[in-house]
Amino acid sequence: MPLLITRRDDGIILYANAQVGPVLGLSAKELEGLPIAGFFWRQDERGDRMRRLEAQGLLADELLDMRRADGARISTLHSLHMIQYAGEDAILGSFQDVTERLRLEEQLRQAQKMEAVGQLTGGVAHDFNNLMAVILGNAEILERRIDDNDIRTKRAVGAIIRAIDRGASLTKRLLAFSRKQSLSPALVDANSLIVGFEDMLRRTLGGANILRVEVTPDNWPSMIDPHQLEDALLNLAINARDAMPGGGLIKICTANVTLNQSEVPDQQDIVPGDYIEIAVSDSGIGIPVENLEKVFEPFFTTKAVGEGSGLGLSMVYGFIKQSKGHITINSEVDRGTIVKLYLPRSTECIPADVVTQKPIAHQNSSERILVVEDDPEVREVSVVILQEQGYHVVDADNGEAAITILKTSQKFDLLFTDILLPGSINGIETAEAALRIQPSLRVIFTTGYSEDALTQFEQFEHAAAIVKKPYRWMELLEIVRATLDKDRV
Ligand SMILES: Nc1ncnc2c1ncn2[C@@H]1O[C@H](COP(=O)(O)OP(=O)(O)OP(=O)(O)O)[C@@H](O)[C@H]1O
Ligand SMILES: [Mg+2]
Repeated sequence: MPLLITRRDDGIILYANAQVGPVLGLSAKELEGLPIAGFFWRQDERGDRMRRLEAQGLLADELLDMRRADGARISTLHSLHMIQYAGEDAILGSFQDVTERLRLEEQLRQAQKMEAVGQLTGGVAHDFNNLMAVILGNAEILERRIDDNDIRTKRAVGAIIRAIDRGASLTKRLLAFSRKQSLSPALVDANSLIVGFEDMLRRTLGGANILRVEVTPDNWPSMIDPHQLEDALLNLAINARDAMPGGGLIKICTANVTLNQSEVPDQQDIVPGDYIEIAVSDSGIGIPVENLEKVFEPFFTTKAVGEGSGLGLSMVYGFIKQSKGHITINSEVDRGTIVKLYLPRSTECIPADVVTQKPIAHQNSSERILVVEDDPEVREVSVVILQEQGYHVVDADNGEAAITILKTSQKFDLLFTDILLPGSINGIETAEAALRIQPSLRVIFTTGYSEDALTQFEQFEHAAAIVKKPYRWMELLEIVRATLDKDRV
């Protein structure tokens, strides 16, 4: 236990034991004779402590910020007793360096808070997606039935659909934060993605800003959702622009890095290994220390109402974490900010040939589709969309019912099922059972989210597609047509 004895009158250190040395950065001998006040982080600390010590006779386990000899700030846990030492009134002080412990506690608290907020936003967004699927579907049904001359009704329905689009983009960002968005990872070369995206970024950033892209050649590939990555870069670049009202330099740099635990100390869950680092930096106003830990929280913004929703960094954070990567932010007020994304390296190689997609034909269709969805209104909407396109649709509200239909009815071409279903089997299991009955069946999954369900989907062996709720009328029809036509000659 590090111990110090100081003279009561002037706070001069009379004795220091050997353990004190490493804590304060001086040897016991060097400490003796120095005033203790010089090691307090706040100069006025001693007066107040002396008053309370005299009133109580002892002070136990109090936190005290101290300054090491090298200027570093440390947190100590402190106890003081009045004693007699070599015939003088003195104070015996014991203290432990708890800087690291407090830092870990704070980190844990922060991680738990992010986790809890993530759970909450994820749950809310999921339920809203179901609601919006119903509103959107019905609005689109109305839209198609309105007489062409009924301009006012058309306009009203148009406004509903636009509002749902806005709602959908909000829930999308919330799901991104809660790490529950459905991702479509692909093998990505970050360099070509950034270079391909540069023009778009430059246009968004506007005239007064200079964008400089510095990519390290021979970047490792990464398995990551390319659209979300572009979105993340856009968010970071816009933040950088907003931090430099008079314009300035925004830099995007890439590098291959190998991380170990100690290199990214503020990330507890870092998996050591190879990463592609993408750093976005600006020379703007910077972020005060007290805000730095809040910037990833959803709805934290310092921007004026209407100018920022506080979801940009939350999305980037959730997306990167969901992609098994890491994100760090460093900032200095008036100097600038640097955000670093670490994308896990993939061991696969990027194939040279690019897969092109066949255009989708929108002719009337006649295939048979089995729709499995427990929410009656969501089910109703998808049935109507598919029926109006000419498909023969049969629907079920759970997996067991769907299997019974498959066993007893004539052949289906496509199974369109929600992933989360009530009853003993979920959508994935329903699809597996369905394929055992009818191996030629095509499958499309739908979901408002569910991280677990999505990872299951990724492991699903048979060719299958996924459509996210809420989906647009055309979106569903396109994916249905593409799935039915896939590999068909
Ligand atoms: N490059 C930066 N420089 C200075 N401050 C930043 C920077 N990036 C983020 N911040 C601070 O973090 C806050 C949160 O950023 P975030 O991107 O999450 O939300 P926003 O930009 O305020 O709104 P939104 O991105 O939803 O439009 C910002 O309001 C700003 O205070
Ligand atoms: Mg932002």
